Amino acid sequence: MSDFAPATTETPSSNVKGAGQGMLFGFWYPALRSAEVRGRRLKQAMLLGVPLCIGRDARGHAFALHDSCPHRGMPLSFGHFDGDTLECCYHGWRFEPKTGQCREIPSLTARDKLRVDRIFATSFACEEQDGYIWVYLPDPEDRHPGSRPPLAQDPLPVCPRLPIFSPRYRITRLSAELPCHVDHGIIGLMDPAHGPFVHQAWWWRSRQSIHEKEKVFEPIPNGFRIRAHTPSSNSAFYRILGVYGEPITTKIEFVLPNMRFEEIRCGPKWFSSRTTVTPIAAERCRIDFCAAWNVFRRAPFIVPAFRLFGRMFIEQDQRTMEKQALGLKHNPSLMLIDDADRPAKWYFQLKAAYCESKRTGQPMQHPIAGPVTLRWRS
Ligand code: FES
Ligand SMILES: [Fe+2]
Repeated sequence: MSDFAPATTETPSSNVKGAGQGMLFGFWYPALRSAEVRGRRLKQAMLLGVPLCIGRDARGHAFALHDSCPHRGMPLSFGHFDGDTLECCYHGWRFEPKTGQCREIPSLTARDKLRVDRIFATSFACEEQDGYIWVYLPDPEDRHPGSRPPLAQDPLPVCPRLPIFSPRYRITRLSAELPCHVDHGIIGLMDPAHGPFVHQAWWWRSRQSIHEKEKVFEPIPNGFRIRAHTPSSNSAFYRILGVYGEPITTKIEFVLPNMRFEEIRCGPKWFSSRTTVTPIAAERCRIDFCAAWNVFRRAPFIVPAFRLFGRMFIEQDQRTMEKQALGLKHNPSLMLIDDADRPAKWYFQLKAAYCESKRTGQPMQHPIAGPVTLRWRS
């Protein structure tokens, strides 16, 4: 591999099945926080440029429909939901929310022969996990718009879940929108070299704390992992964990399409986080950070204190990406260097391999053959 390679959001995978505008279909994505969808109110959301109408049925189960009435395209989210059927606000067509099946068209007379039950609003698989409503976005050609019932599909992949290691823990969630393509959000997430410049704070780390690092990366299904290792001593969080007097290890994983998991273990104490960067539209994405832990579980104000620091970190990333987006508007040519940008290169290669396997129907060829040691300064 050369020392640098140009990287643009238009990877070779961009126009094949499963990668509309560089966004990967065929995965679960967090659409909304669970707490945002209450009672019978309908909420709008957007994933991969697809507008969604999200609500809860009378039993509290979440549903997700394409936010477009199959009659004349009115967003269904402007309609009325009575806990059982959703009524479009334009001509009152009524739909069952889970399957999208049409139940009634008020304008029909007894003489009309139209089979109402053969009309469907497009529905999406929807699950709740870790306080988010997740929606599975199939490839556009696998959807069932308008006049077809849902296709019998292969079983869906399992909805992602934050790893938890004890029955009692604290949990919190933070999010921030970014004005850029999801690829830039994701490679920012895996970029080890920006820390000392973007995340400076007197109590955390300074530019002077930069030193050489060496970590072993290894392939895992659909991604890669930084092998469990003793974390670097230049960050305050690990120094605080030292009070437990137990060996500390940390493990970081990236998994397609958009997830970074971090797991810190310190004897029976643990901290687990998942950061996702979800494409909302071609040039808009959202970071969702979800963390759970049992370290300092009983400490007063631990959740607000953690949120304060977490919010500061995410805002540092958000402001940086907002500035970068100003530069990216002019389509500059970009470069990815070894070894600091190697995870970013792997991300693009994983995407391309995923799309190729969908195109050919063959198993995915993993771009990383085996363990690799990367070295950089940060
Ligand atoms: S557009 Fe929805 S009923 Fe006509
Ligand atoms: Fe960052």
